[in-house]
Amino acid sequence: MLVLGIETSCDETGVALFDTYTGLLAHELHSQVSMHAEYGGVVPELASRDHIRRIIPLIRSTLKQADRHLKDINAIAYTRGPGLAGALLVGAAVAEGLAYSLNLPRIGIHHLEGHLLAPLIEPSPPEFPFIALLVSGGHTQLMRVNGIGSYRLLGETLDDAAGEAFDKTAKLLNLGYPGGPAISKLARTGNPDRFRLPRPLINSGDLNFSFSGLKTAVLTLVNNIPEDESNTRDIAASFQKAMVDVLTSKAIAALDYEKLQRLVVAGGVGANEQLREAMEIKITKQGGAVYYPKLEFCTDNGAMIAFAGAMRLSEATKNHGFSICPRWPLEGLTLE
Ligand code: KG4
Ligand code: ZN
Repeated sequence: MLVLGIETSCDETGVALFDTYTGLLAHELHSQVSMHAEYGGVVPELASRDHIRRIIPLIRSTLKQADRHLKDINAIAYTRGPGLAGALLVGAAVAEGLAYSLNLPRIGIHHLEGHLLAPLIEPSPPEFPFIALLVSGGHTQLMRVNGIGSYRLLGETLDDAAGEAFDKTAKLLNLGYPGGPAISKLARTGNPDRFRLPRPLINSGDLNFSFSGLKTAVLTLVNNIPEDESNTRDIAASFQKAMVDVLTSKAIAALDYEKLQRLVVAGGVGANEQLREAMEIKITKQGGAVYYPKLEFCTDNGAMIAFAGAMRLSEATKNHGFSICPRWPLEGLTLE
């Protein structure tokens, strides 16, 4: 069965073709990062308009790359939420329109489910159950994953998401948007121990996160020391170390709490090389294993949506007409 996957929840237009027998055939992505960079963040209206421009050519090029035609597709999966309403509508409308005209079943996928299943696209995927640390621009959650569709929320951020904290800190340091990759790059040459920044809720005894105090601590620092390259490098490295400490410590606490050994790290912040390194060291040390999606599938992409669609094929329907869910809890997920 060949599944076409469409992702348009935020600032990336992603399209992919997943074959349930042979795996991922092709995927294409258009990132709007350079378009939004001059505004310092995603401008929702511009995002929707750009998705409209990109989506059809991307579907065409993905089919071409896989040497397949529209008539070869058996089902269509698209991101139904959560995300920016206008951006979601573009993917949903194109997917529903195509499904209707080709008389195909379609399925609306939860974006975070796409992220947390992305490591399963790889060879040697983790077995269920596992803990998933979802760290994206809009979410920071720890989930117990018992199987496809069986997710229990263990903890989440009380304020900013991890990616949001990276983005806001990068803004304070004049590093541009998106902040994560810029901070990570700069932190390589900085001293992570020069500034002792807070590790919010690290000893809270629960699995929740809070990052807004960390961002405020960076703001205080920025206002009190001269702006030069070496200070910026050291702040970036110290901030990142605080983030990595909190994320690794909470992930390990979740594994202990649930008596599990397997951790999946998914979402854009999962691309952070220092986080990956620290997780690997700490979790293997206690006999556990960490799983990541391929680097290119950490941030938003169509492959994870095509894959989640393939896992949920039995729920795809020809009942056309659609709604999007800009806010949508993952726990207790039902697709219709
Ligand atoms: O999963 P994603 O592409 O989109 C959402 O669903 O939100 O995540 C985007 C977030 C942004 O906040 C970005 O700064 C962050 O992921 N990010 C990173 C890195 N690459 C992307 N954060 C830290 N280090 C990175 N290398
Ligand atoms: Zn995402």
